[in-house]
This record gives sequence, structure tokens and C-alpha cells, in this order.
Amino acid sequence: MASELTINISIDVLAPEELNERERKAMQLAQQAASDAYAPYSNFLVGAALVLEDGTMFKGSNQENAAYPSGLCAERTALFAFSAHHPNEQIEMLAVTARRRNDTNFLAAMPCGACRQVMAEYEHKQGKAIPVLLQGPDGNFYRFKSVADLLPFQFNRENL
Ligand code: THU
Repeated sequence: MASELTINISIDVLAPEELNERERKAMQLAQQAASDAYAPYSNFLVGAALVLEDGTMFKGSNQENAAYPSGLCAERTALFAFSAHHPNEQIEMLAVTARRRNDTNFLAAMPCGACRQVMAEYEHKQGKAIPVLLQGPDGNFYRFKSVADLLPFQFNRENL
């Protein structure tokens, strides 16, 4: 008989007042970044913020294009900008949030598969988990302890 493999992923569910100072600032920057999104087609504004080891923060927002597939998500915009500017530094954490243009409330929006794959690349490269803080439902925040928790069974350089 086939055996079964169970994967357990535990996520910290945090009320706003339970965020630490760094998380609060990162989420604030992600919210600001969302407002800068160039999203004239979807009107869905996504913001991402990275915190580096020395506290430096990087933000990104989704950048859309009339040729739709040429656009890029907020997470990858932030990650590629970070890696282009700081190729040898480590990411301490990543925060992501989103809202619709005509609504000031931030939504529970989960990173797409392609962004998870790119996050996984940098997590693997630095050899240290990158916690990912997401806007969750009901005004709470979801803190994944690593990108691997968001993308189990990932394809990475070990598979090549
Ligand atoms: N989007 C992101 O920026 N990040 C994601 O993880 C999912 C989707 C953007 C892409 C597009 O500009 C808009 O949201 C609607 O899909």
C-alpha cells in the first residue's frame, strides 16, 4: 500500500499590535509601495518591502504593461531591485500587502507562484530562512517562517 507523507506548516497569526517594530515598519512601507503601484489595467495595487540585515529597506510595487504579460508583480520588482543593488546581502524578512484602487482597506493577498519561486531562489542563495509577513484575513497578519513554507517541494539549484 502507498505510504502517505504529511506536511505540517505552522504560521504565526498576529494581531497588528503583536508585530515587532521591524515588521510594523516593513508592512507600512509595503502599504506605501502599494499606493505607488503602476496598475492601470487591474487597479489591484500590490506592495512589497524587504528588510536587509543592516535595517535597509527595499520596496517594490506591481508594474503593469499594455502587453499584459510584460508586467511584473510587486514581490519580484522588490526582489530584483534588491539583488541588483545589494548582490551580497541577506534578506531578513519580506512583507507583502495589496488593496484595490478604490478601497483603502488592505486585503489578504497571497503571493503568486512565480513570486514564490523567485523568493525561494534568494532564500536558497543566502542559506537562511526569509520570514514572509502577509496581510491576513480579519485584520490579522500571517507570518510564514520561511519561503519554503510557502513553497514546499520547490525546484531549486539542487535539482539541476
Ligand atoms: N500581483 C502582484 O503584484 N503580486 C502577486 O503575487 C499577485 C499579483 C499583481 C500582478 C498584477 O499587476 C495584479 O496584481 C493583478 O494580478
